[in-house]
Amino acid sequence: MKINLANIKKAKKLLIKSECIGIPTETVYGLAGNAYSDRACKKIFKLKKRPKNNPLIIHYYNCQKLKQDCYYNEDFYKLYKNFCPGPLTFILNLKKNTKVSKIATNNKNTVAIRFPKHPIARSLLKVLKFPLAAPSANLSSRVSAVCYSDVKEDFGKKIKFILNGGRSSIGVESTIIDLRNKPKILRLGGLEISSIQKVLNKKIILKNNPSKISVPGQLKLHYSPGIPIRLNVKKIKHNEAFLLIKKIKNKTKPNYYFLSKNGNLKEAAKNLYTTLRKIKKNKYKSIAVTKIPNKGLGRTINDRLKRASKF
Ligand code: TXA
Ligand code: MG
Repeated sequence: MKINLANIKKAKKLLIKSECIGIPTETVYGLAGNAYSDRACKKIFKLKKRPKNNPLIIHYYNCQKLKQDCYYNEDFYKLYKNFCPGPLTFILNLKKNTKVSKIATNNKNTVAIRFPKHPIARSLLKVLKFPLAAPSANLSSRVSAVCYSDVKEDFGKKIKFILNGGRSSIGVESTIIDLRNKPKILRLGGLEISSIQKVLNKKIILKNNPSKISVPGQLKLHYSPGIPIRLNVKKIKHNEAFLLIKKIKNKTKPNYYFLSKNGNLKEAAKNLYTTLRKIKKNKYKSIAVTKIPNKGLGRTINDRLKRASKF
């Protein structure tokens, strides 16, 4: 991908002034601001209408730049070497003298951090003297943005600039792992647990549905297109949009939406949010979803649809 350096320069200028901008990442687009600036972080919460107790993910260029803000251990390093930059977010302990805004972390002594792989995000992070706080660029509890026009749709003129990096190649948010003690997955995402398991070679706990909700990303209603969703449907109702995992030959109708050609789960994840937005735009009042295989990225798709169905 060719990087437009004039746009990177413009983005840098705005970020230095504590403005918020839209940035592309390989998972979903982020609403980015200077993570060391209280003013910028406050703006992010306001723009997203995000509850103050839901901390922001901080994006770094590399682990060298991370050292001044957090502690990390051997497990972190193994995963970093294998998967970063990429769709994996780590929960780590913050250092006492960290410069990360307390607004961003909601005064916690832990922080969520990630190294995005998208070339535009990387070339921006490389020229900045600070990391970027960047939650997904959507209004709180709604479907994440996976292209320029999605961000525009949610924020319009309220943000001054969006870097256009095309469609996000993964299309669902990063997997979140807490590495402070025993490795614990807090959110299923773009990196499969089996890949993480192979590298760490130890038991990984899945805790993305705790009885006590500790992280708003684990909230039941989330990723919602704003209309009801029914899961594992065999027979649809009148006027419903039908969301299918793969194309069915000679059986397609205008209200049928396919996540992939042949049932490829990566392709389906990539198309998930765009398809949900499309169905909403086409004015359907509800969505019926067929059964989606609960393996690989299918688990992430099911997780998102389940939360979106609590409408
Ligand atoms: O792929 C992604 O992760 C995208 C791109 C833009 O990087 N970002 C994203 O951000 O999905 P967001 O804010 O929508 O989701 C981040 C999640 C939230 O559910 C938040 O509660 C959780 O990370 N989180 C942030 N800080 C945390 C902490 N200290 N401990 C546990 N969870 C935390
Ligand atoms: Mg989000």
